[in-house]
Amino acid sequence: MSLPKDFLWGFATAAYQIEGAVDADGRGPSIWDTFCAIPGKIADGSSGAVACNSYNRTKEDIDLLKSLGATAYRFSISWSRIIPLGGRNDPINQKGIDHYVKFVDDLLEAGITPFITLFHWDLPDALDKRYGGFLNKEEFPLDFENYARVMFKAIPKCKHWITFNEPWCSSILGYNSGYFAPGHTSDRTKSAVGDSAREPWIVGHNILLAHGRAVKAYREDFKPTQGGEIGITLNGDATYPWDPEDPADVEACDRKIEFAISWFADPIYFGEYPASMRKQLGDRLPTFTPEEAALVKGSNDFYGMNHYTANYIKHKKGTPPEDDFLGNLETLFYSKNGECIGEETESFWLRPHAQGFRDLLNWLSKRYGYPKIYVTENGTSIKGESNLPLEKILDDDFRVRYFDDYVHAMAKASAEDGVNVKGYMAWSLMDNFEWAEGYQTRFGVTYVDYNDNQKRYPKKSAKSLKALFDSLIKKE
Ligand code: BGC
Repeated sequence: MSLPKDFLWGFATAAYQIEGAVDADGRGPSIWDTFCAIPGKIADGSSGAVACNSYNRTKEDIDLLKSLGATAYRFSISWSRIIPLGGRNDPINQKGIDHYVKFVDDLLEAGITPFITLFHWDLPDALDKRYGGFLNKEEFPLDFENYARVMFKAIPKCKHWITFNEPWCSSILGYNSGYFAPGHTSDRTKSAVGDSAREPWIVGHNILLAHGRAVKAYREDFKPTQGGEIGITLNGDATYPWDPEDPADVEACDRKIEFAISWFADPIYFGEYPASMRKQLGDRLPTFTPEEAALVKGSNDFYGMNHYTANYIKHKKGTPPEDDFLGNLETLFYSKNGECIGEETESFWLRPHAQGFRDLLNWLSKRYGYPKIYVTENGTSIKGESNLPLEKILDDDFRVRYFDDYVHAMAKASAEDGVNVKGYMAWSLMDNFEWAEGYQTRFGVTYVDYNDNQKRYPKKSAKSLKALFDSLIKKE
């Protein structure tokens, strides 16, 4: 037994990926509704308009969680259901609030601990149109704080709040490559607006300020009576040198994690951006005023960790192009000696390598002083899964093995390395809208039949997790 007695485990989802019902009960559009409507942005031309229809199937989803034995569930709130136009002077939509209040009541009734993500990429479209969304330092943090306050007040029963999911994705994919909403990039064949060399760093900065404001609000006005905790969820991959003999590759491994994770985590734990980023990005990286640094520093009650994969890292020579966001390096699946990091999946960026999970848990723990960690996402797609007959899909041994390997790696980090990990949420409870990849790529432990009324069929992996965690969580 190697995980602590109070360890929570379950599954994660996000509003736009599962809810559907985009026009129900007064919801306003988000930047993802707008982005999906642009031809060519989503691989299969789809959107989250229906998705898993979870907005109308909350009872079924909770029954599913219960039947799988989950003790926790991480889901996100659609900001534009709460404040359809998004801003602090815009009307509040009581129906949207009521929906999530009831959902949390029902989860608690079922014995499942809610983890609420306030923001999982679906910015109210009105804020993007009104003032440029995340790019606006004067408006965006204030509007986010206001929305967060509305939710803290409405759901005092929630004790685990996540401000932002993966700000790296909102910044880089939304404002550098343009692969995600709102699709800004310097590449004028893809977008009429954007500056890949500057906007991502401004967006990241403003998200940190918004996070800081929400955390301050929670700690001052809600935590004393509600007693919950709050943090941010960051994504990052494990790194291994392409050539372990080359000190420049070894160094580039840390730099890769700094550009992905420490970009946000260093300001949160130390009040400053990593030296490697300041050095490469110069004045394109915003600086923290003393007030901003004070707001952001120390703003995590826990570290939310999303983790999926690993890469070999090869340093690059010379001056990187202005739009480089990796840290002047290459990410590879093969090492110099021809070792492969892991098997292919349906996701071009994902290859299982469970040891990387343990290594990254250690890296983070060492750098940030062994914070309490919740793994807020971990999971895999499977190469060709969507094209298999149903009975084969339900027999998802590849995913069973992935979870088995990754959870054991985490358990070792907990028992043998002193990593303070307290929870784990598998991505995802069910197949859902995989952003720019549409519905072809499936991450669910539950199969969703999009051609038959979003019918749900738990896969083998869904049922494997309870036994796995029962075997690892200490009984006393
Ligand atoms: C995101 C999820 C996404 C998953 C798989 C994470 O980066 O938070 O929304 O579906 O990865 O790509």
